Amino acid sequence: MLVCSCNYITDKEIKDVINAFLDEDCWQLIVPAKVYHAMEKRGRCCGCFPGVVDLIIKTTEEYHARRHSTEAEIFDFMSRLRQFHEENRRADIERRQKSHRAA
Ligand code: FES
Repeated sequence: MLVCSCNYITDKEIKDVINAFLDEDCWQLIVPAKVYHAMEKRGRCCGCFPGVVDLIIKTTEEYHARRHSTEAEIFDFMSRLRQFHEENRRADIERRQKSHRAA
């Protein structure tokens, strides 16, 4: 399924990059810009980023389920991951509203 129409990136390509990052360090925080940088792409309109965040969370959950991490480890990490992305999403919305008001 096509996730990013600006760069023609599919969900499988994104999941493959996320899994490669998790193989390097399964507890690292992954953001859309990091995924796109690894693919030598960059966000243009960035309209796909919320969908990429959802893919990061889903793929990370599936990765840890396969890896048999403990429930406590997974719960703690997924809470931090969701909070991190939620804070980024809010900051992004505030930034857009400020730039929209300035224009
Ligand atoms: S849809 Fe991905 S950058 Fe525009």
